[in-house]
Amino acid sequence: MTVILDGKKLRDELLDELKNKLSSYNVIPKLVVILVGENPASRIYVNNKKKTAEKLGINSEVIVYPADISEKELLAKIEELNVDNSVNAILVQLPLPAHIDKSKVINAISPLKDVDGFTPENSGKLLAGENPYVYPCTPKGILLLLDKYGIEVDGKHVVIVGRSNIVGKPLAVMLLNRNATVTVCHSHTKNLSEITKTADILISAVGEKLIEDNMVKMNCVIVDVGIFKDINGKTRGDVDFEKVYEKTSYISPVPGGVGPMTIASLMLNTVELFDLQTKRSCD
Ligand code: GUN
Repeated sequence: MTVILDGKKLRDELLDELKNKLSSYNVIPKLVVILVGENPASRIYVNNKKKTAEKLGINSEVIVYPADISEKELLAKIEELNVDNSVNAILVQLPLPAHIDKSKVINAISPLKDVDGFTPENSGKLLAGENPYVYPCTPKGILLLLDKYGIEVDGKHVVIVGRSNIVGKPLAVMLLNRNATVTVCHSHTKNLSEITKTADILISAVGEKLIEDNMVKMNCVIVDVGIFKDINGKTRGDVDFEKVYEKTSYISPVPGGVGPMTIASLMLNTVELFDLQTKRSCD
């Protein structure tokens, strides 16, 4: 029988625990999210982040800039936030407009306030098999979900479709660090379905309708990271859920799977950074 990986339920459990933990704090952690431009999907994600933080009692501020803000002005803001002791976590929502160098912006964030775990110091630690200050939110949420359902990754063949810096690459490293055998597929991969059919755990993070029932092996685990609106305006993921469902042992739905776990991870990371910074200032 197929089990649904319920990201909403686990998010609610994790956020309840976090709310409890925060009730003993004298100072409230603060997350600052920077949004540049008018990307509608980004706006929705950022609003969800703010709403969740507010519900938890995490102080959150969203700074919105027009799409034509200069790179220099954005870097100056990050520098200001880096040295502001009331700010514990900084997130610059991606994508950024083309005239802004994304790497420069990410590299400007203090690693100890880098709530995405994207800075070279944090991603370098991850690659070296060390603990970064925090782990990237979506990969962290996926692993929390697999752990919750007792799905072991050690020795399993995990196929990831998508090689983004946000999901595919850090997730591959985190799985390798947990002794999974990892294959990363992408837009230039030949014979994709031959590879996906060998997956014990298939994780798709592409953002288009891609994974059909003839691409998966019986009893595999499927995690669907993709999210987009189809031509009828329905929110859906990369995986043809209805057709694939019967073949899987576990499958995450869209919506209600990875999305809620990403937000929960962001809240966990904000509090983890706060704890690290507070501990440091007491040392
Ligand atoms: N855009 C889509 N996902 C993410 C994320 O996890 N972090 C940031 N900063 N931008 C994103």
